[in-house]
Amino acid sequence: MKLLVTGGLGFIGSNFVRLMLAKKRNVRIVNLDVKTYAGNPENLKGMAGAARHRWVKGDIADAKIVDRVMTGVDAVVHFAAESHVDRSIHDAGAFLKTNVIGTQVLLDSAKRHGIGRFVHVSTDEVYGSVAKGQSKEDDALLPNSPYAASKAASDLMARAYHVTHKLPVIVTRCSNNFGPYQFPEKALPVMITNWIDGIPFPLYGDGKNIRDWIHVLDHCRAIELVLRKGVPGEIYNVGGTASLSNKRLVEGVRKIMGVDRSLITPVADRLGHDRRYAVNCSKLYRLGFKHATTFDKALASTVAWYRENEAWWRPLKSKSGYKRYYKRNYKGLGKR
Ligand code: NAD
Ligand code: TYD
Repeated sequence: MKLLVTGGLGFIGSNFVRLMLAKKRNVRIVNLDVKTYAGNPENLKGMAGAARHRWVKGDIADAKIVDRVMTGVDAVVHFAAESHVDRSIHDAGAFLKTNVIGTQVLLDSAKRHGIGRFVHVSTDEVYGSVAKGQSKEDDALLPNSPYAASKAASDLMARAYHVTHKLPVIVTRCSNNFGPYQFPEKALPVMITNWIDGIPFPLYGDGKNIRDWIHVLDHCRAIELVLRKGVPGEIYNVGGTASLSNKRLVEGVRKIMGVDRSLITPVADRLGHDRRYAVNCSKLYRLGFKHATTFDKALASTVAWYRENEAWWRPLKSKSGYKRYYKRNYKGLGKR
C-alpha cells in the first residue's frame, strides 16, 4: 500500500509515519512537507522502515508538485497545516493559504487520480467552546480562533468533495495531543522545557480553560483505524482520557518534575480563548477503538522524553525565529 502523508515532518505526522512504518510491513510512504518552522527532519531520524519512506519537499498548495506525488497513491492522510492558535492570532494569512487552499488543491488532485481514501485530519476546535456536554459529529461548527476557522473551512471543503464528487473522504476531529516531537510552542512542551531550564510557564487567564488530552500515538492509532474501517463521507471525533483545566494540568506536570509553584506565572488571557472542548467519541468506539495509553503514564513518559532529548528541542528554542515568536507572543501579557 502506498500512502501519501502530508505534514509528515510535524509533530503528529512524524509520529504517524513512525508508527505506520514500524507496524505495517507492506506500507510505503511519500511524505509531502514544505518544512515550515514546525517541520523537522530530525523527527524521523533513526526510524524503523526508513527505506520505505520518501520525503518530498513541497507545498500542498502547489498543484504541480501535489499532482506529481499523488501518482500511484492508494490513500492520502492529510496532516499538513499551520497548527498553532497563538500564531493565527498574530497573523492568519498562512493559515488560510495552507489549511484552506492547500486542502482544496489536495482534494482536487485526489479526485483527478481517483484516490481510494482521503483522511482529513481535523480538530475538536472547529466546534468552538462547549459550555456543557460533548460535541457530536453533526453539531454546528462555531470556530472562534482564526486557526479553528481555517480548519472548519477545510473540513467543509472535504465534505463538499465527498458530496459533489463522491471522493471517499473521511474527517477526524481530535482533541489536544501531547507526546514526543511536539514543537515547543504548544502548552505542554513550553511548560516542560521551560521548567527544565528553571524558567516560568506563562499560564493564560484564570487557568480554568478545559482541554481533553490524548497521547499522540493514540491519535495516530485512531487515524490508522479510520483509514482501514471508516466509512467514506463520515466524520469521527477522537478524544482523550483526561479532561483537565490548565491549572490541573500544570499541577500534574509540576508534581512529576518537582518544580516550585513560583515557576507558574499567570499572564493576561489569550484573545478569544475557548473555555472548554469536549468530544463525544461513540462513533470511533463503535469502529473498535480503545485507548492504549493511560494519561498519567503518558504524561510521565512525555516529561521523561523531553528530559532525555534536549538535543532535539534546544536547537529549536535557540533559533532567532523562535525567540522572536516567544517575545511577540508573551511580551505585553504581563503578570496578572
Ligand atoms: P505541526 O505544526 O507540528 O506540523 C505541521 C506540519 O505541516 C509541519 O511539518 C509543516 O512543515 C507542514 N506544513 C505546513 N504548511 C505546509 C504546506 N503548505 N505544505 C506542506 N507542508 C506544510 O502540526 P501538528 O500538531 O502535527 O498537527 C497536524 C495536524 O493535526 C494539523 O492538521 C492539525 O490541525 C491537526 N490537529 C492537531 C492537534 C494537536 O493537538 N496538535 C489536535 C487535533 C488536530
Ligand atoms: P495549546 O497547547 O496552544 O493548544 P490549544 O490552544 O490548541 O488548545 O494550549 C492548550 C491550553 O493551554 C490552552 O487553553 C491555552 C493554554 N496555554 C497557556 O496557558 N499558556 C501557554 O503558553 C500556551 C501556549 C497555552
